Amino acid sequence: MTKPTPKDNEIQLSTKRYIVSKTDPKGIIEYGNDYFVEISGYTEAELIGKPHSIVRHPDMPKVVFKMMWDRINRAKNIMAVVKNMAKDGSYYWVITEFEPRVDPISNDIISHTAFRKAAPKKAVEVMEPIYQKLLEIEKDGGVEASEKYLRGFLEEKRTTYDEFVDELVGNTGLFKIFFKTMKKMFS
Ligand SMILES: Cc1cc2nc3c(=O)[nH]c(=O)nc-3n(C[C@H](O)[C@H](O)[C@H](O)COP(=O)(O)O)c2cc1C
Repeated sequence: MTKPTPKDNEIQLSTKRYIVSKTDPKGIIEYGNDYFVEISGYTEAELIGKPHSIVRHPDMPKVVFKMMWDRINRAKNIMAVVKNMAKDGSYYWVITEFEPRVDPISNDIISHTAFRKAAPKKAVEVMEPIYQKLLEIEKDGGVEASEKYLRGFLEEKRTTYDEFVDELVGNTGLFKIFFKTMKKMFS
């Protein structure tokens, strides 16, 4: 029998707390709230100034981040289900939304803030095998191939990425209120 390692350990997030981080336009961390620091396992000093990929989990397919950047680079929001990795290798699942700050004169993006909550179990159960499939496709065909697969998957279901995730996380009442409140608090 192999001994369990931190890599096998899922961090159980509090449903009452949220993880917030702010980056520059390129994704370099400028701020993290206490819960982000606590869950990531890094010190605040270790996080500030680092690329946000510091918490990237190798199980995450590239196409999710490509889609995310395509969206937030246009100062648009996206709701995504993300598996992250803490410093010791353990993992946690979140749903995340973004809020850009745009310079009113130049229209340039000044910063991105991400707000995250524990992902509902159902969302993880549905997304995990999809991400595994996308990752597998990426190994051979790269991100172009996984993007094509994802597009086909959504077309077959006659849905869009946003509708699919919205439905999955039950983004009707509580989550919407939560993200709205967070965005107000931090803007
Ligand atoms: C505000 C903000 C928050 C982000 N949060 C995460 C995150 O929690 N986990 C993650 O893996 N990537 C996050 N990213 C995306 C990373 O910047 C990066 O694109 C991703 O980890 C993929 O790494 P790579 O671009 O080196 O392949 C975030 C980006 C921004 C702008």
